[in-house]
Amino acid sequence: MEQIFEGVYTEKGKLYTLNIAPGSRVYGEHLISVGGKEYRSWNPYKSKMAAAILRGLREMPIRKGSRILYLGAANGTTASHISDIATDGIIYAVEISPRAMSDLVQVCKIRKNIIPILADASKPESYEIIVGEVDVIYQDISQRDQVGIFIKNMERFGGEGILMVKARSIDVSMPPKKIFDKVKREIKNKFEIKESIYLSPYSKDHMAIFVKPTL
Ligand SMILES: C[S@@+](CC[C@H](N)C(=O)[O-])C[C@H]1O[C@@H](n2cnc3c(N)ncnc32)[C@H](O)[C@@H]1O
Repeated sequence: MEQIFEGVYTEKGKLYTLNIAPGSRVYGEHLISVGGKEYRSWNPYKSKMAAAILRGLREMPIRKGSRILYLGAANGTTASHISDIATDGIIYAVEISPRAMSDLVQVCKIRKNIIPILADASKPESYEIIVGEVDVIYQDISQRDQVGIFIKNMERFGGEGILMVKARSIDVSMPPKKIFDKVKREIKNKFEIKESIYLSPYSKDHMAIFVKPTL
């Protein structure tokens, strides 16, 4: 196992995180033991963060001690890998769907660094009393107003940002490249773009945008 970022490992072209809950799986991922430690395979077809890493991410904003606000946590697939990485940090996992939330709550029972929050990410005032300031906002919400939701949360909670853009949720009739350019222009008005990465072939018509606050 070679460590490529804090808490992120690779072997034979595949990604892994060190399982903080040995023996437990979240989405049917492979568990492998190396040198007495258990690693969970991180599937880039099921997690856009894994896809961004495999597509050449240069700098990883999520670290061992990071406080993270995760918007659109669903049933915890990516959040669980982030919880393997941010072992000394905390993940506030916001999800609007009660069905997905009930799965996420099961994950949080085993992974104590994830705090589940049933809320609408377009209303950050509804969870600001729980969250406070964070180091990183990670957003993966397939909604038309995904950029507006991201900006609103970045302005309220600060930190660096990771936005997973799904072009087809913004406009099905426009070519994805045009949508990505438009999104980047909107983001650039407010923040500095550090990296932008196309996620194909893992996630078609998706782009990961990594931003930091402008000084
Ligand atoms: C593409 S899925 C997220 C997958 C997840 N990030 C992962 O990698 O494991 C998008 C999620 O966003 C949630 N969602 C959509 N609109 C939302 C909103 N306004 N606030 C919070 N969650 C929302 C959906 O219910 C869905 O679970």
